[in-house]
Amino acid sequence: MIFKHAPVLLREILADMSWKNSDVVVADFTVGGGGHLKALLENNPLPKKILAVDQDPAALKAAKENLKDFPNIEFLHSNFSEISADKFPEKFDRISIDLGVSSHQLDSAERGFSFQKDGPLDMRMNPTAGESAAEWLAHCSEEEFIKILRDYADESRARPIAKKWSDARASKAIRTTREFVEALGFTLESKDRKGRHPLTRAFQAIRMHINQEFQVLQKILDELPNLLKPNGRVSILSFHSLEDREVKWLLRGKLKQIHKKVIIAQDDEMDENPRSRSAKLRIFELTKEE
Ligand SMILES: C[S@@+](CC[C@H](N)C(=O)[O-])C[C@H]1O[C@@H](n2cnc3c(N)ncnc32)[C@H](O)[C@@H]1O
Repeated sequence: MIFKHAPVLLREILADMSWKNSDVVVADFTVGGGGHLKALLENNPLPKKILAVDQDPAALKAAKENLKDFPNIEFLHSNFSEISADKFPEKFDRISIDLGVSSHQLDSAERGFSFQKDGPLDMRMNPTAGESAAEWLAHCSEEEFIKILRDYADESRARPIAKKWSDARASKAIRTTREFVEALGFTLESKDRKGRHPLTRAFQAIRMHINQEFQVLQKILDELPNLLKPNGRVSILSFHSLEDREVKWLLRGKLKQIHKKVIIAQDDEMDENPRSRSAKLRIFELTKEE
């Protein structure tokens, strides 16, 4: 399948994350298909070093193909939570972070990220490690499931959903997205009054738990000030209010936010790319005196 993912808030990222000469080290910690990185490289002098990281081997493969015209790129299969200043003592002038899943991951039925497509209930961004959603859902307690639904999705129906789930799994092994949705009394095509699938939030919460998205974000936010050179910048795009809050608070006093307000997509982008509607962008700089 061709890698399809429209880079979000690209204009705004190009405006604030560009650089002036080749003596820079640039990293994308969530390279995905390489959309943001490619645009940055096309519009700036070629850096002396480029690091492209993703925890998904399929994304890295797509990025390698998309970025094949650029030399000096080190592709690294890793969770960004593993990146630390002792592994990269030279530090970075630019770091891009674009959280969450790509449209390509969502569109790939075999990854189990979308309940609109039938596939194995997996949801791991790195399918070579950890527990799949089906494995976790087979053994999690009702209370654990309720906590995940409440913490990550603010789901008001957490208790009935968890109860229905534990009754359903007691009578049948549930391994696919379709079986999961049907066990909770819906179909893949179900829609709520807003036209969304009633399990949209539950699905996002399970994905966040399976990939420990909140925990790895906290880890990299702690490390970011050690990874930047003086005047170095990091852009962080998030799609969940909890994540944006964490970005704002954990970097406060450590890095300087270069715009007072969070950056959101303009109307034309929201019309063209619905995914951009929930995007929040913050850009920070390590000022010389910090
Ligand atoms: C929204 S996509 C990035 C899209 C990219 N900016 C582009 O323009 O093509 C997010 C990517 O980050 C990866 N990712 C998410 N969390 C990660 C983490 N903790 N460590 C490494 N990669 C991660 C996902 O696998 C996915 O490929």
